[in-house]
Amino acid sequence: MFGQLFLTLSMTLALQTSLPADIEKRIDALLARMTLEEKLGQMSQATSMRNPIAEEIKQQIRQGRWGSFLNAGLPEDRAEAQRIAIQESRLGIPLLFGRDVIHGYRTVFPIPLGQAAAWNPGLIERAAAIAAREASTEGVHWTFAPMLDVTRDPRWGRVAESLGEDPYLTGRLGSAMIRGFQGGSLREAGRIAACAKHFAGYGAAEAGRDYNSTVIPENQLREVYLPPFQDAVAAGVAPFMTAFNALNGVPASGTRFLLDRILRKEWGFTGVVVSDYESVLEMVQHGFAAGPAEAAQKAVTAGVDMEMVSTTYFDNLRRLVEKQNVSIASIDAAVRRILRLKYQLGLFDAPVRPAASVQTANDARGIAKELATQSLVLLKNDNGVLPLSPSVKRIAVIGPLANSPVDQMGSWVMDARPEEVETPLTSLQRKFGAGRIRYVAALRNSRDTSREQFNAAIEAAKASDVVLLLLGEEQILSGEAHSRAFLNLPGAQEELAAEIAATGTPMVTIILAGRPLTFQNVAAKSAGVLYAWHPGTMGGPALLDVLTGGVSPSGKLPISFPRAVGQIPIYYSHLNTGRPASPGELGIPLGSPVNPEGFTSKYLDVDFTPEYPFGFGLSYTTFEYSKPRASTAELTPGSSITVSAEIANTGKRAGEEVAQLYIRDLVASVARPVRELKGFSRIRLNPGEKRTVSFTLTPRDLSFYNESMELVTEPGEFQAWIAPDSASGSDVRFRFRANTNRQ
Ligand code: GLC
Repeated sequence: MFGQLFLTLSMTLALQTSLPADIEKRIDALLARMTLEEKLGQMSQATSMRNPIAEEIKQQIRQGRWGSFLNAGLPEDRAEAQRIAIQESRLGIPLLFGRDVIHGYRTVFPIPLGQAAAWNPGLIERAAAIAAREASTEGVHWTFAPMLDVTRDPRWGRVAESLGEDPYLTGRLGSAMIRGFQGGSLREAGRIAACAKHFAGYGAAEAGRDYNSTVIPENQLREVYLPPFQDAVAAGVAPFMTAFNALNGVPASGTRFLLDRILRKEWGFTGVVVSDYESVLEMVQHGFAAGPAEAAQKAVTAGVDMEMVSTTYFDNLRRLVEKQNVSIASIDAAVRRILRLKYQLGLFDAPVRPAASVQTANDARGIAKELATQSLVLLKNDNGVLPLSPSVKRIAVIGPLANSPVDQMGSWVMDARPEEVETPLTSLQRKFGAGRIRYVAALRNSRDTSREQFNAAIEAAKASDVVLLLLGEEQILSGEAHSRAFLNLPGAQEELAAEIAATGTPMVTIILAGRPLTFQNVAAKSAGVLYAWHPGTMGGPALLDVLTGGVSPSGKLPISFPRAVGQIPIYYSHLNTGRPASPGELGIPLGSPVNPEGFTSKYLDVDFTPEYPFGFGLSYTTFEYSKPRASTAELTPGSSITVSAEIANTGKRAGEEVAQLYIRDLVASVARPVRELKGFSRIRLNPGEKRTVSFTLTPRDLSFYNESMELVTEPGEFQAWIAPDSASGSDVRFRFRANTNRQ
C-alpha cells in the first residue's frame, strides 16, 4: 500500500515538474503507441464543436479524430469534451482548445491598432496577461494572437488587428503581447499559448483587398514583413499560423521558403505551425494544388503541422504515406511538435476539471481603461477647446458612436457582454448628470443616410456650450474580409458634422473606427479632434478622463493617415526617389505653362504628405526637444553609439510623451528609407520638468539586405533624430566606419 502511494506521489511530482527530457521521453513512448489515424487526428483542428456537443463529435473525440478545436462551444462543452478525450479515448490524449482572443476575452481592450497607439509594451503585456487569465479560466489553452502583419493599407479590414505600419513597433508590441499571454512558462496557471500570425506578408494584400495576392521583393520581405515574426520567435512564441495569401505566387501554407528555410532553418523555430482556416484546401483555389491530396502533400512537406478546419490531412495522408509521397517521419515530426505543445501547457498532467466561468475583476477594467486612455490620439486642439473648461455647463453628445457598446468593442469579440461596456454617453451622463447632457444619436448607425434626427441634433447643439460629436465606423465595417475602397466617414456622418458645425457651437469630433479614415472636411470644422479607434469595454471612462483633463492625451499614431485613398500605400519609411517633392507642393493652376520645376513625385490634386504622420499625437501640454547629440562621431564594428536629447515640458500641465528615435542611412548600395524607427521611450514630465532620453545603436541596428540578400552595415554617414513624430525634429549626424584602418 505504502509503496503504491509512494510511486503515485513520485509520479505526480515528476509529472508536475516534467523537464524537457522527460517530455521527450513521454512523447517517444506515446508516439510509439499511436496508430497512423491517431497521428492524423492530432494534426486536425475542427471548428465543429457547438453547444451542446453533438453525439457524432463526442464519438469522434473518443476515436481520436481531432487533436484540437477552435472557437468551440461554451466552457462546459470544452470541459466535457476534454473529459471524454482523457477518459474515453484509447490513449487519453487531451484536446487543445484554440480561440481568437485577439484583444481581450470578457474584458475587451482597444483593438490592436489602438493598443499600438499607446506605444506602451508594459501595459500591453499586462492587458494580454488579463486576457489569458480570463480565457484560461474558461478552458481556452491557445489564442490566435498577436497578428504581426505589418500593413500600409488602411483599406484592408484587418488593419484593425495590426500593430500598424512599422516593423520595429510591431515587433516590440507583438512580443509584449506574447509575453503577456504566455508568461514565463506555459504551465503557469492563467497562461495560454500565443500564436504568431499570419506568416507571412498578408498585410501587403494588393489593393487592400483581403486574401489578395502579395508581391514582395525578398529584401523588403526581410526588412519589413518578417522582423516582427523573428522577434516573436525570440520572445518564445509557441505556435505560428500560416497566412491565406500567395506570397509571390506561392500560397503561404505551401511555401518551403517561409516555413522551412526561414522559420525552421534560419530562425530555428521548433514549435507548432498551424494553417489558417481551410488555407490548406484553398491551395486548390489558388491553382497551386490539383486537388486536396496534393494540397495536403504540399502543406505537410512545407511544414504545416496542424490543419485548421479543412480535412485534407485526415482524408489523404494515409494514402500519401503508403505511396511514399509523404514520409512517416514528417508525420511524426508534426505530431511530436503538437504533443510537445500539449505537454508544455501541462494538459497531460492537468486533472479533468469542471467548467468554470470568468468573474470580471476590477484590475481588468482598470487596465482596460488605462490602455484605452493611452491609446487616444489628440489630432487637433484649437484654442484649447480641450480639456473641457469648467465654464462648460451644457454639453451636446451627438452621433451614432456615442452609445454603441458592440461597435465600441471592435472586431473579434466573442466572449464579452455589451451590458458590461461603458460607453462615452453613459460615462458623460454619470459625470455631469443627465440634466447637463443633451444626447441625440442623429443616425441609427454609421452607415445610416437618414436625416430624420438632424433637426433634433441641431437644436441640441444650439442649446449647448460645446458639442461632442462621436462618429466613425460600426464594428462590422472592419476586420476580416471587410476591406473598404473608400475611407470616408460612412453614411451621412459628414453631412451631420456640417450641420452641427453650422450652428456655431464649438465642436469636438471623436472618431471610433477600426482604421485610419479620411475626414478633412470634418476636422476642418472641428475645434478639436480625438481618435479613439475601437476602444473596448472602458472606452467611455477613458474618453471622459481625457475630455475633462483628468489625464492628458498621449497616444501617437502607429500608422500614417492619408489625405486621400489615392495616396495608398503611404508610409513614413519611404525611399526618397530621384525627384522628391517638397511638402506643400500642390497642383498646377489651370492654364499655367508646363512648370519645369514641377517634375517631382507629387500629386496635382492633393498634398503628397499624409494628413497626420506616423508617430504624431498632441498633448494638453507642450514638449520641447533639444537637438540630439551623439556619444561619438564614428561608430565602428563591435562598438555602439548613444544618441541623446533633452525633452522639456514647456506647458502648464503634466503629460506623457513618446519620444521616437529614427535613423537614416544617407548613401548605400541599395537606396534606404528617409527614416526608420529604431527606438521609442514613453516618459512622464511635470510642467517645467526636463529629462534626457538616450538610445543606444549598434552596427546591427543600421543594417539592411543588399542586392545579394546579405545583411550588411555599410560604411558612410547616418542621421539620427529623437523626435515627437516621423515628420519633425532635428538630427545629428555620425559615421559608421566598417574596417579598422581609417579611410
Ligand atoms: C480566420 C483568421 C485567423 C483566425 C482563424 C480562426 O480566418 O484569418 O486570423 O485566427 O481564422 O478563427
